[in-house]
Amino acid sequence: MEVRATAEGTAAYRDRFSFSKEHFHQQQNLWLSSIGLGTYLGQPNEITDITYQMAINKAVELGCNIFDTAINYRSQRSERVIGNTLQQLFQQGKLQREQVVIATKGGFIPFDPKSAPDPHSYRKKEFIDTGIITDSDIIADCHCMTPHYIENQLNKSLQNLGLKTIDIYYLHNPETQLEEISLEEFYKRIREVFRLLEKKVDEGKISFYGTATWYGYRRPSNSKDFLDLTTLVKIAEEIAGKNHHFRFIQLPYNLAMPEAFTIANQTVGGQKLCVLDAAKEYGITIIASASILQSRLAHNLPKDVQAHFPGLQTDAQRSIQFVRSTPGVTTALVGMSQKAHSEENLRVANIAPLKPDSFLQLFEKT
Ligand SMILES: NC(=O)c1ccc[n+]([C@@H]2O[C@H](COP(=O)([O-])OP(=O)(O)OC[C@H]3O[C@@H](n4cnc5c(N)ncnc54)[C@H](OP(=O)(O)O)[C@@H]3O)[C@@H](O)[C@H]2O)c1
Repeated sequence: MEVRATAEGTAAYRDRFSFSKEHFHQQQNLWLSSIGLGTYLGQPNEITDITYQMAINKAVELGCNIFDTAINYRSQRSERVIGNTLQQLFQQGKLQREQVVIATKGGFIPFDPKSAPDPHSYRKKEFIDTGIITDSDIIADCHCMTPHYIENQLNKSLQNLGLKTIDIYYLHNPETQLEEISLEEFYKRIREVFRLLEKKVDEGKISFYGTATWYGYRRPSNSKDFLDLTTLVKIAEEIAGKNHHFRFIQLPYNLAMPEAFTIANQTVGGQKLCVLDAAKEYGITIIASASILQSRLAHNLPKDVQAHFPGLQTDAQRSIQFVRSTPGVTTALVGMSQKAHSEENLRVANIAPLKPDSFLQLFEKT
């Protein structure tokens, strides 16, 4: 039995549907749906777990095979609800492990009310008292990126998700570190943790790794928290050669935050490129987050923007269509803890993405 997403498994999932071919993209030898389900938002309580479970089941039924979480989301409940829901689907024979891509992240210090009464006591009990981290490893009172800590977090995520292998393991907002350390120290830490992650690939605990970010790839290149893709790729190559596994980056991208497409802040071979084009040059897959700006783009889009998305009924659908029509974006992640939102959003899978000309015209207007 497979323990990870595979080329054959994801192709078999794709073949269940009669969507336009453009709904699934082949990247890293996997077929990924152009809409993925995210699990950041929502209360850390039982009722939200139940609604997430229904939303995930519906999304699997309607053509979504990429699920995104992080250990700190909803005090680890988001990882557990993805794990439990998918395990049930595997047991019921409705989905196979190899058909679905599961991504999580480590870096932010999480909490678990089952283990300690408050986040501070949890941190002390789980990480400081055990020697996994020291106070000086913590940045901005919330973030840590040492290999020892990331190894601990990866193991915990595997346990929360009930998996042998995580398909994509992201360092979560690594640019947070740049608030307090020098660029030189930052890339030294990246090197150490990329070395660990390559080892975890060899051990079969992850298939790929990457960086999930908020500011890093959207900033001008002279900003303090800018992430330089060329340097990151060079580090991965120095550790593992051309066949390294630093293959995914995640960044916010939507109608109101188009920087990944509009700002040429990366330099590849002496040429200034936007991060979408730079990633393509390096064979790295782009996953967009916050596709509907945490629901603010689900209502009140201007009429001329609405008119640009034929065949779609709601502003959430139009906003998702914008993201999945962007050249270089593989998957638009949308947070969905409501079954009705999975139904509404996955309807977009039935409509072909905008053609490049039409997409660019829209840009000229905004
Ligand atoms: N730095 C990072 O690594 C980072 C940052 C942000 C996001 N992410 C990832 O990307 C995912 C997506 O981003 P996000 O969740 O922050 O924001 P988002 O996808 O832009 O928005 C999610 C919000 O929109 C609501 N929604 C979904 N479909 C809707 C619809 N059809 N009509 C009205 N409202 C709708 C959701 O409600 P319900 O929950 O009620 O369905 C939720 O409140 C996250 O869940 C997370 O997995 C990663």
